[in-house]
Amino acid sequence: MLKVDHLYKSYQTGRAKYEVLKDVSFEVKEGEFVAVMGPSGSGKTTLLNCISCFIPYDKGTISLKDVNLSKLDEKQIAKVRNEKLGFVFQDFMLLDGLTILENVCVPKVIRKEPYKQMEAKAKKLLKMFGISEIEGKYPAEISGGQKQRTAVARALMNDPLLILADEPTGNLDSRSSEAVIGAFLEAQEKLNATTFMVTHDSFSASYCDRVIVMKDGKIFTELVRKGGRREFLDELLTVLKDLNGGE
Ligand SMILES: Nc1ncnc2c1ncn2[C@@H]1O[C@H](COP(=O)(O)OP(=O)(O)OP(=O)(O)O)[C@@H](O)[C@H]1O
Ligand SMILES: [Mg+2]
Repeated sequence: MLKVDHLYKSYQTGRAKYEVLKDVSFEVKEGEFVAVMGPSGSGKTTLLNCISCFIPYDKGTISLKDVNLSKLDEKQIAKVRNEKLGFVFQDFMLLDGLTILENVCVPKVIRKEPYKQMEAKAKKLLKMFGISEIEGKYPAEISGGQKQRTAVARALMNDPLLILADEPTGNLDSRSSEAVIGAFLEAQEKLNATTFMVTHDSFSASYCDRVIVMKDGKIFTELVRKGGRREFLDELLTVLKDLNGGE
């Protein structure tokens, strides 16, 4: 599904070149829920932005269902972003002047689909995430957790191949975080959605099938969940402790 191969990325500041991603390779399979963890500055957001084609990279390839993204032009990239990728940002990015239902419809509006059709689909998603009752409200009138579930519903509107999320539970309390993770799990279970999520929160990550741990722009280790969530959380916490202890 997603294949990142020998990816290198550096930022140029003045005369200094700063290497952020150094030979990063991994794959995400269809229907998999994968988290990326690691210390602040280890390159997680940069990695996500490279996959989203928001920023250029120096070397390596990123392919989505065997399509090499680096070979595409601007117009093709815009099409991939709208049709193949779903985004969930930390600060939700909902449009204040639109209702919840309308916000969820936005990706389809861009594609100029018939209104009835998109409304039916949006309503189905709202129902799936248990937020049907707020469909007529505006973002300012709903809770953080509801906003985030709205954002997940919107990300799923075009049946994306891949959902990319940067700290989707970053601003939320533990109950709302659980609701957001629940929304991803629901999408995985019912729609076979594939999710790639950056997070600092081991609790959220413990629900994933796999966790990629980054350090200094490289993959430090990858953990696959074999048993229950609690054991996986313990395993994650041990690895993260090692990671920080080794600095
Ligand atoms: N536009 C930029 N120009 C120059 N340096 C940048 C830029 N964006 C990020 N960096 C640097 O690249 C490194 C990695 O940043 P990145 O945002 O990918 O880290 P992160 O792992 O997402 O951290 P956090 O957990 O704090 O969100 C940091 O040292 C950061 O200062
Ligand atoms: Mg970040």
